[in-house]
Amino acid sequence: MSNQASTLFVKRLEGDVAIITGGASGIGEATGRLFWSHGAKIVIADIQDDLGEALCKELDENAMYVHCDVTDEEQVKKTVDLTVEKYGKLDIMHNNAGVVDCATRSILTIEKSDIEKVLGVNLIGGILGAKHAARVMVPAKKGCILFTTSAATLLACTLCHGYVASKQGLIGIMRNIAAELGQFGIRVNSISPYAVLTNLSKSTMPHSSTDQLRALINETTNLKGTDLKADDIARAALYLASEDGQYVSGLNLVVDGAFSITYPSVPFI
Ligand SMILES: NC(=O)c1ccc[n+]([C@@H]2O[C@H](COP(=O)([O-])OP(=O)(O)OC[C@H]3O[C@@H](n4cnc5c(N)ncnc54)[C@H](O)[C@@H]3O)[C@@H](O)[C@H]2O)c1
Repeated sequence: MSNQASTLFVKRLEGDVAIITGGASGIGEATGRLFWSHGAKIVIADIQDDLGEALCKELDENAMYVHCDVTDEEQVKKTVDLTVEKYGKLDIMHNNAGVVDCATRSILTIEKSDIEKVLGVNLIGGILGAKHAARVMVPAKKGCILFTTSAATLLACTLCHGYVASKQGLIGIMRNIAAELGQFGIRVNSISPYAVLTNLSKSTMPHSSTDQLRALINETTNLKGTDLKADDIARAALYLASEDGQYVSGLNLVVDGAFSITYPSVPFI
């Protein structure tokens, strides 16, 4: 390959329109930035208005922030409608918003309200996102629906039962709707990361500093020599959302450096 060819930057989402829930920080922010840099018009849907607004202001008219609590169906519906109104269509729906029930450390002390919260955001929020995306993708006879799940779904993750239940549930719904929506040309996949240093993972270890958490993550990884970053998960999402993944559907893409086939349990998410 010539030097010129090797440095050529191909925009892999030119003209596409994507909603990223939970896009104001962490993995969602990295995905939004990457999709945008690949020519997509992006809609950041989150409840952290200041962060979401600041991110979109830093980009350009191809980035819009919408306040959207994914547990509220009206807000999810409105986000999809505003997206179609502003950019004309919806190609990619990335259901990425998530919370973790780090207080739930034992089935003996699990609180119903904690389970309801984590299932409400992660599982029901994801289903509502898929429902309203499908509403506009089915008539268009194309589209890509993504969920951010977790490598914890392949392991015993004893710190957070509700979280694992929510993410396992998402893998179930991902596979189901991949089967249902294939006839309309819609692909549905999930991405299951191992631990990435973000606000969410930090919240699982409230008494540890960022450096301590980073050291713990690095100590426990299977794949050495590189840290798993939000950008790595964004690149997996780009693969699934772009033409590169055009026949990939019903896949849970595990981005964990083979952690889940090496170890049976995880000390955090
Ligand atoms: N960080 C990790 O180690 C890790 C590992 C596996 C999976 N994940 C998953 O990745 C996704 C992104 O998390 P992250 O690690 O980037 O953390 P993060 O806290 O940086 O991002 C989560 C985002 O979701 C938003 N959010 C929370 N509740 C919401 C609601 N009701 N409506 C709309 N938005 C809401 C938050 O405001 C935040 O911007 C989550 O689904 C998480 O479960 C993270």
